[in-house]
Amino acid sequence: DLSTRFLDCAFANPLMNASGVWCYDQTELDALNLSAAGAYVTKSCTLEPRAGNPEPRYKATPLGSINSMGLPNLGYRFYLDYVAKHDYARKPLFMSVAGLSLEDNLAMVREIKAANVPAIMELNLSCPNVPGKPQIAYDFDAMDAMLAAVCREYDKPFGVKMPPYFDIAHFDAAAEILNRYPQVAFVTCINSIGNALAIDTETETVLIKPKDGFGGIGGDYVLPTALANVNAFFRRCPDKKVIGCGGVKTGEQVFQHLLAGASLVQVGTALQEEGPAIFARLADELAALMAKKGYKTLGDFQGKLKTL
Ligand code: DHB
Repeated sequence: DLSTRFLDCAFANPLMNASGVWCYDQTELDALNLSAAGAYVTKSCTLEPRAGNPEPRYKATPLGSINSMGLPNLGYRFYLDYVAKHDYARKPLFMSVAGLSLEDNLAMVREIKAANVPAIMELNLSCPNVPGKPQIAYDFDAMDAMLAAVCREYDKPFGVKMPPYFDIAHFDAAAEILNRYPQVAFVTCINSIGNALAIDTETETVLIKPKDGFGGIGGDYVLPTALANVNAFFRRCPDKKVIGCGGVKTGEQVFQHLLAGASLVQVGTALQEEGPAIFARLADELAALMAKKGYKTLGDFQGKLKTL
């Protein structure tokens, strides 16, 4: 039994896409709705539609992927209209919001509140790919101000999409800020490891065009960093849920995220490479691993990682 509950919603399984992957337009979103994913999330949106960065802007590598998409999206009105029409009896749906400024986020949040949709908001504090726009969650004062303002404007529980941190002092500082906001009901860890550089040896060239080749990496590169961030926030934010994201391409990796404290698990690079059929495979692999271990429900092991 892979079913679970999250923010008072029923999920058939804990699997969903990572925002940005397979969720740009009606066709892609419909494919996720029809897939075996337990839920799905829309592409991070801005106040106005954006074309994004020049191509090529995503490349797969042997160990994962690198991207600098630059927030191409159809504008928040499209995604708000999409989530307003969704059949929530089928599966839960999240809406990712990534305004280019605090003012833009507040304008979108006001409209989302007024629409009173059942979609769960994931506020993206960690886009690394818009030139001149630093990741909010790497500026703790900016993050605190953003959360204070959004919590004043919005009326429902919501979540935040976080970048990876690499220092215990940063886990402590970020969690302390998040814990000031009870309305922040979940923390999604992690976005891509930002501003990495992948190189093709044969051509002696970068792999993607924007930002001289610098981009966010996902896939195998990021699994241990993702698990550390999931577990760090799981330990520090006992009144919040954690959504795991990073390096998932097998049921065993889903299991590791859940063990580390994730309540739901998102799939990015592997979904981009394999397509929405990946969700049925991951669900089967997770169920088989649970059966082998004698676990009947996710609650039998979720958050129960052992230390030495
Ligand atoms: C993009 C990348 C991200 O990692 C993110 O969180 C939002 C947007 C992008 O480049 O489109």
